[in-house]
Amino acid sequence: MTPNGKLRLGVNIDHVATLRNARGTVWPDPLRAALLAEAAGADGITAHLREDRRHIRDADIEALMAGIRVPLNFECAATAEMQAIILRHRPHAVCLVPEKREERTTEGGLDVAGDDNRLADYVAPLREAGCRVSMFISHDPRQIEASARIGAAVVELHTGLYSELHAEGRSDAAEAELASLRKGAAFAHALGLEVHAGHGLTYDNVAPGAAIPQVMELNIGHFLIGESVFRGLGDAIEEMRRLMDEARG
Ligand code: PXP
Repeated sequence: MTPNGKLRLGVNIDHVATLRNARGTVWPDPLRAALLAEAAGADGITAHLREDRRHIRDADIEALMAGIRVPLNFECAATAEMQAIILRHRPHAVCLVPEKREERTTEGGLDVAGDDNRLADYVAPLREAGCRVSMFISHDPRQIEASARIGAAVVELHTGLYSELHAEGRSDAAEAELASLRKGAAFAHALGLEVHAGHGLTYDNVAPGAAIPQVMELNIGHFLIGESVFRGLGDAIEEMRRLMDEARG
């Protein structure tokens, strides 16, 4: 069965914190951005607490947990430090991602298949705490199958490669990558996983991903924060919402 219903938009506010930290001041404030995003129609707020705290910091997570009404999707690496933070705050959702200190952004998907025993143990207490746990993975069926096996409720399919190919004008390769994302979404859904997608999405490339019927949520950050410099955050988000709804038909 194909799920229907409105496609959710999760707005990632990490780069509001990047801008704040560039000057070591207290503005722009990520919580203020989250509240504006909420008012503009975001269905959730995503924040990635990195090991090196390069953008979001611990105090931001506390402020978001206390201040927003929509669910918080807490993104992090599967480390002991992060597990303790999750269990303290009990956010609605947790998205586990691979993390390398030297990378500029989350470069690849998590290797769930290669680390399944550890991840199963890692995820169990989070589930018991009531968090919906998501694995940020590629569309590789092995990774999807392993995510279901270790007890994840959700997979977020990495759209970074598709976005890159699209931006480079390599339309055949982008189309092939999209076909794999569609297959992956259908496979994950058939295994009982909720399907999300994200990374590198923009006004120009969002439509095909938004049109994949099994995808229930898109998580979008960097483009929206950049676009907000020109048109304001609320307006930037409303336009993304409109394009998503239009693609969904
Ligand atoms: N989803 C996940 C799991 C991510 O790590 C990121 C980047 O932080 C995003 C979505 C959003 O990607 P972007 O900032 O390129 O829109």
